[in-house]
Amino acid sequence: MTQDILFQNLLHATQTAYRANPETQAFAGFPSDIERQSVSSHHCNCSDVFQHDSKLASAKYADLQDAILAASDIVHWRETYKGTEISNDFMDRFGCYCIIGDDAPFMSEQIRLWMVYMPAHLYYPWHHHPAEEIYMVISGSAIFRRKGCPDEVLSEGQTSFHKSNQPHAMETRDDPILCLVAWRDSFQAPPELTENASLLTPTYT
Ligand SMILES: [Fe+2]
Repeated sequence: MTQDILFQNLLHATQTAYRANPETQAFAGFPSDIERQSVSSHHCNCSDVFQHDSKLASAKYADLQDAILAASDIVHWRETYKGTEISNDFMDRFGCYCIIGDDAPFMSEQIRLWMVYMPAHLYYPWHHHPAEEIYMVISGSAIFRRKGCPDEVLSEGQTSFHKSNQPHAMETRDDPILCLVAWRDSFQAPPELTENASLLTPTYT
């Protein structure tokens, strides 16, 4: 398949899954101003980890998972936390690429959209950003932590909403997780690791 077909399949599957979920739809409508843009591929180790993860399986969103996987070799894998105190192990295994936004095959002024992948037994430390955010689980499961809220174990089809600058964290246990993640404002400020995160005691054991 050509790059353009892979990206158009990705956009179509993303739109179908996003529109089928009432919580993502309520967060922000799927953008009406999408434009195709060129993107140069950027490979990271996490892409290989993702592509070889045999435990990911989605009942509701199999087409989206397949489209995300199919585009893995031609996308720009992000290294959001490069140069921070985050571990090399996290950098090697945490996967994220943008579907709508910077370094992505599509652009919109209305929302940003990413895929986020974590293999089993990985901890994504507390972080925050000005943008309001929603995670929708495509497959797998993880513990979602939000400051001021009880921990939740979320799986396929479930969502987590993060308010502006509300610290949040994620942890996988025996299952990996694949998510669709949307921002609806404050696109220019990237995520930052949250200082004094040790004060944010997990409530899930
Ligand atoms: Fe976030």
